[in-house]
Amino acid sequence: MLSLTLTGLKLKNPLMLAAGIMGTTCGSLKRIAERGAGAVVTKSIGLEPKGGHSNPSMVEVDCGYLNAMGLPNPSYKNFQGEIDIAKESRVPVIASIFGGCSLDFAEIAGALRADAFELNVSCPHAHGFGAEIGTDPELVEDITRTVKRAADVPVWVKLTPNVTNIKDIGLAAESGGADAVVAINTVRGMAIDIESGYPVLGNKFGGLSGRAIKPVAIKCVYDLYEALDIPVIGVGGISDYRDVIEFMMAGAQAVEIGSAVGNNINIFNDISSCMESFMEEKEWTLEDIHGMAHRE
Ligand code: FUM
Repeated sequence: MLSLTLTGLKLKNPLMLAAGIMGTTCGSLKRIAERGAGAVVTKSIGLEPKGGHSNPSMVEVDCGYLNAMGLPNPSYKNFQGEIDIAKESRVPVIASIFGGCSLDFAEIAGALRADAFELNVSCPHAHGFGAEIGTDPELVEDITRTVKRAADVPVWVKLTPNVTNIKDIGLAAESGGADAVVAINTVRGMAIDIESGYPVLGNKFGGLSGRAIKPVAIKCVYDLYEALDIPVIGVGGISDYRDVIEFMMAGAQAVEIGSAVGNNINIFNDISSCMESFMEEKEWTLEDIHGMAHRE
């Protein structure tokens, strides 16, 4: 009842692990896959090994989490083994990749073997990477086109909400040949410790995730669904089946779940069974709810 084909990939359900959460090792990716995720997305992987921003790099705030990890990763040259072992769980493994220019992205996409690539042009706090690229439609189109030439698997582009009009960036990704867009990455944010007067995060500012950003994400998905012909994948603040249904009604064909996995590792199985009961009761299919909120 929940199975679907997304950009050519067969998924048993539309619930995927979002990049950045438990996606650094094959062990954690497999654990999530074995607990009901339809697909898993790795931590963002770059050209060279990279340490992250200084600690604290993640803090809980009253409405979610602020993180400024700084794209720490072992480099694509040291990551293939993790993907290969994660694939034993028989769910699609999507490699989130980042770079500073189209050639960086192309080198990684040409070498790493995964079921699809998710281009991180949206991390809000990494100098020279992420949103510094992903706020420029020309760069997004160029990088997407270059990766499409280098890769023989679907290419998804993860968008930043920290722009005036996310549709422009989505359209640029589509023009570059993206197979799907993923909306949204975190919302730029900051917290200050009032005892010391210093910013809480080592990087001073970071990206907000969790429940607070769900309405922002829903609006982005809604707008992208209207503007684009390619699938939209929703992410941002999902913590139960109602959130998933809402994203799909806004226009998401599938969703990714991030922050809430930290509180409940069984969230994928839990949401699947609740979604099935809800849809059975309503006599709705995934096709019925996809984009339902756009009806006149
Ligand atoms: O810093 C990080 O690793 C997070 C990246 C992101 O938000 O895309």
